[in-house]
Amino acid sequence: MSETVLRAGAPARPALALAGAEPPAVRLTRVSKWFDDGGRRRTVLDDISLTLGRGEFLCVLGASGCGKSTLLNLVADLDRPSAGVIEVPGGRRAALMFQDHALFPWLTAGRNVELALRLRGVPRRERPEEARRLLDLVRLKDAYGRRVHELSGGMRQRVALARALAQDADVLLMDEPFAALDAITRDVLHEELTRIWSENRLSVVFVTHNVREAVRLGQRVVLLSSRPGRVVREWTARPGTSEAALTDRVTEALREEIRRHGRR
Ligand SMILES: Nc1ncnc2c1ncn2[C@@H]1O[C@H](COP(=O)(O)OP(=O)(O)OP(=O)(O)O)[C@@H](O)[C@H]1O
Ligand SMILES: [Mg+2]
Repeated sequence: MSETVLRAGAPARPALALAGAEPPAVRLTRVSKWFDDGGRRRTVLDDISLTLGRGEFLCVLGASGCGKSTLLNLVADLDRPSAGVIEVPGGRRAALMFQDHALFPWLTAGRNVELALRLRGVPRRERPEEARRLLDLVRLKDAYGRRVHELSGGMRQRVALARALAQDADVLLMDEPFAALDAITRDVLHEELTRIWSENRLSVVFVTHNVREAVRLGQRVVLLSSRPGRVVREWTARPGTSEAALTDRVTEALREEIRRHGRR
């Protein structure tokens, strides 16, 4: 049975009917978010309509401060939109993976993953085996009994990925998860993530300000403008598209966006 979670902002707008084809993993309809800035309304996200298909890998690209984390927080239900509707038709929560691993450093990798399993309601006796399976998935089985503070940055992000997967959510939201890693470790994790995504048919929203990363990972890349954040461009990777050529085009569009923002 499928359930649609509706998170409407105020003023609420009607959700689109889900007609015919398989419902998307996430649908944002005219979503805006503003904050109160000393009595003045400051709009961070403006009228964003976006759909994440089931099994799709979507990258959201934008300059620092354009509202990428705000957008993910709304989809993760950590905050409410000021206007518009967010639908998660699978009904299960989305799992969020942060830039900073946000693990408990004094606990072992295994215990960190088991905590997420506990929150999901997995019985205690099943947790160790499931945690080992998830750590194996991110190629970290041997780290089960090691404390997080003993692990490298790349290993910590792998544990954070295992913990996000432990939530068994329909949608995986990734907020610049590899930004603090060196280029080689990041490349390895890109490959691992692509493998895990394709083997597990995950629906992913991956946020980054790194064009190469977005083009490399995303089936679709959406560019957000700054102040306010709006969807300004979108690219779909097609078989045969040269990654380098697409990177050049997207880089040019991002530069143009940053220049335009600077002139305002
Ligand atoms: N709770 C809040 N109250 C007020 N302003 C906020 C709040 N959360 C975010 N903002 C503002 O919204 C804007 C967008 O922030 P956000 O963190 O979403 O950007 P970002 O694109 O994720 O940036 P970065 O790439 O640096 O992580 C910023 O100007 C920020 O100060
Ligand atoms: Mg951010």
